[in-house]
Amino acid sequence: MDGIGELLQGFDTASVVGIGCGGQMHGLVALDENDRVIRPAILWNDGRTADAVDYLNNVIGKDKLSQYTANIAFAGFTAPKLIWMEQNEPENFRRIAKIMLPKDYINYRLTGVHSCDYSDASGILLLDVQHKTWSKEMMEICHVRLDQMPKLFESYEVVGEVKPEIADLLGIPAGVKVIAGAGDNAAAAVGTGTVKDGSCNISLGTSGTIFISSDKFSVDPYNALHSFAHANGHYHLMGVVLSAASCNKWFCDEILKTKDYAGEQKDISDDRLGRNSVFFLPYLMGERSPINDTDARGTLIGLSMDTSRADLVQAVLEGVSFAIRDSFEIAKALNIPIEKSKLCGGGAKSPLWRKIMANVLNIPLEIPQAEEGPGYGGAMLAMVGTGEYESVQACADALVKTAKVIEPDPEIAARYEAQYQKFKKIYPALKSTFPEIR
Ligand code: XUL
Repeated sequence: MDGIGELLQGFDTASVVGIGCGGQMHGLVALDENDRVIRPAILWNDGRTADAVDYLNNVIGKDKLSQYTANIAFAGFTAPKLIWMEQNEPENFRRIAKIMLPKDYINYRLTGVHSCDYSDASGILLLDVQHKTWSKEMMEICHVRLDQMPKLFESYEVVGEVKPEIADLLGIPAGVKVIAGAGDNAAAAVGTGTVKDGSCNISLGTSGTIFISSDKFSVDPYNALHSFAHANGHYHLMGVVLSAASCNKWFCDEILKTKDYAGEQKDISDDRLGRNSVFFLPYLMGERSPINDTDARGTLIGLSMDTSRADLVQAVLEGVSFAIRDSFEIAKALNIPIEKSKLCGGGAKSPLWRKIMANVLNIPLEIPQAEEGPGYGGAMLAMVGTGEYESVQACADALVKTAKVIEPDPEIAARYEAQYQKFKKIYPALKSTFPEIR
């Protein structure tokens, strides 16, 4: 409530008609029979579920999971967390009356309704994504009942109205509608106008994602990319790098002990791009796409007496960009032509990182005028839900504007092509060592 109060500062609270949010995905918010939170949420980047993931993917089997849900298990997904909880906190598991995701808990507090939208529900691994219903088979596998699951909505649908006592607290009118909202990546896709078939958004946030909007349901036969519902009523494919802008934050804050990110980047001129002998694997929290490896760890390799501070800063930005290219390559192998993309998230504020990203992928990147990504998308969904626009597409056409386009440079892109070929060899060479050095 404090956060919503802060958001309202400087605005005419009497004119609020709808609320919509984009929330971090996959977090397990378990409620008891009195709707009280049972334990701290287990978040999207938590790797404790390695054994449950192994059970789901290798005992139940990837084929079955993919058939039931369109996806396989990854450590951050919610279903493995339920299995972990049943095994490690059986008391807590027995008390679960409702399984919620972070933004859905906010919607519940506002309205009293237990809801979940299809985009976020896709990342639980209990949803039959194609048919948009909870999967009976997956619920049985995870020992979960239908009455524990929230009610499903399209992201732009109205879940309920803000309860009168909450409206009073926030100083907003009675009857304000709460819209289901979306997982942060689907919400960011709406906020950047990534809603047409085949359009792409890359987010350089705490995590890094590549999000490909699709009118039709499809599954990556290797399940390296997630096959999820989109907030516009259709679908998307997505690759997720668990540590993206968080790598730069970690390196600057914790290692270099500076908050001056721009200062650290200012000497990295064009002639240095694609010529770094230092490489960085950004697996600070293990990795999701495409390697699905909770043991993988961050790595700096190629250091010499000539290595400078700037080389290391550059390697961190490049390593994240190469990791996103790994998922980009998978999309290309599925014959999905990505000729350009939007770019959003905190990392997209860095002119250097934008340039590196455009050249590593060798495509133009469009920077939207509104930088808020998921928040902007959540608000747009609320506009659709309250009838201001007739569809998510119409809303995006009206509200999303491009501020600038970052074009790749043929020479830099060619150098990065050669660098990416080297990057690709590093993880396979170290894969078997990671479990030993943890
Ligand atoms: C997506 C994912 C992250 C979180 C970040 O699958 O795990 O991007 O949504 O909040």
